[in-house]
Amino acid sequence: MSYSEILIELASRNDLSQGTIQKIDHDFLNSIFKEVPNKEILLNQLLFSLDQIFELIKLTLEHHELTGMHLGRVGRLGAMLAQKAGLHWKERLECLYGGWIHDIGKIYVPTEILDKPEKLTHEEYELIKLHVNFGCDVLKYYPHLEPFLSPLRFHHEHFDGKGYPYKISGTDIPIAARIICIVDAYDAMTGFRPYLNTKTHEQAIEEIKRCAGSHFDPKLANLFCSLSKHEIERIQAQLRY
Ligand SMILES: [Fe+2]
Ligand SMILES: [Fe+2]
Repeated sequence: MSYSEILIELASRNDLSQGTIQKIDHDFLNSIFKEVPNKEILLNQLLFSLDQIFELIKLTLEHHELTGMHLGRVGRLGAMLAQKAGLHWKERLECLYGGWIHDIGKIYVPTEILDKPEKLTHEEYELIKLHVNFGCDVLKYYPHLEPFLSPLRFHHEHFDGKGYPYKISGTDIPIAARIICIVDAYDAMTGFRPYLNTKTHEQAIEEIKRCAGSHFDPKLANLFCSLSKHEIERIQAQLRY
C-alpha cells in the first residue's frame, strides 16, 4: 500500500472525505516520508499519529465546520512554506501535523462566539484566546503527538513578543510555530469565515508585509509574500464556499 492509499484510508475511516484532506496533502506527506530514516519503525509511529490527528480534525469539524476546514488548509499551507524555506523533514512534518491541530482547542469555545459577526466583547475575546490553553489540555491525552505541538502552543506568539499566551519572541518561538503563525493569519484574513469582511489575496499580502518583523518573522513573512497568488491559492484550494 502506498502512503497516499494509507492516507486516503485513514481519512475515510475518520470520515474526512469531504475535502478537508486533499490530494495535495498526499504529495506533501510523500515528499516528507521519502526522507524519513529507519522507515519501518518511524513510519508506523507517524501513521499512528496521523490517525489521531484525523480523529481530532473530525472532532473539530463536528463542533464547527469552518474551523475544521481551516485546520486542513493551514496544515498544507504550513507544509508548503516549510518546503519553500528548505526545512528538514522533521520541521516540515511538524508544520503539516501541527498546522492540522493548531486550533483544536476551539472545540471548547461556543459556536455562537466563533460565528459572531459583530465585534467581540472583551470577555469573549479573552475566552477565544484560551483556545491555545484548551488545546494543550486536550493534547495531554495524545502523548504521541508531543513532537508536533509547537504550532499549537505558539501560533499566537508574535515575533516582537506581543502575542499570547507566553509572550516569547524572535527565534525563541520554534520555527514551525513562526510558519504556522503566518499561514494561519493569511487563511483567517482571506476566507476562514466568509460571512465576515474578508480580504483579497493582495490585501492579505500587504498586511503580512506591514507586520513583518512585528507580528511575523520577517524572513519567513517575506518568503511567503514572494510566492505567487496562484501558488498559494492552489494549496489553499478550499478557500471559498
Ligand atoms: Fe488559533
Ligand atoms: Fe487558526
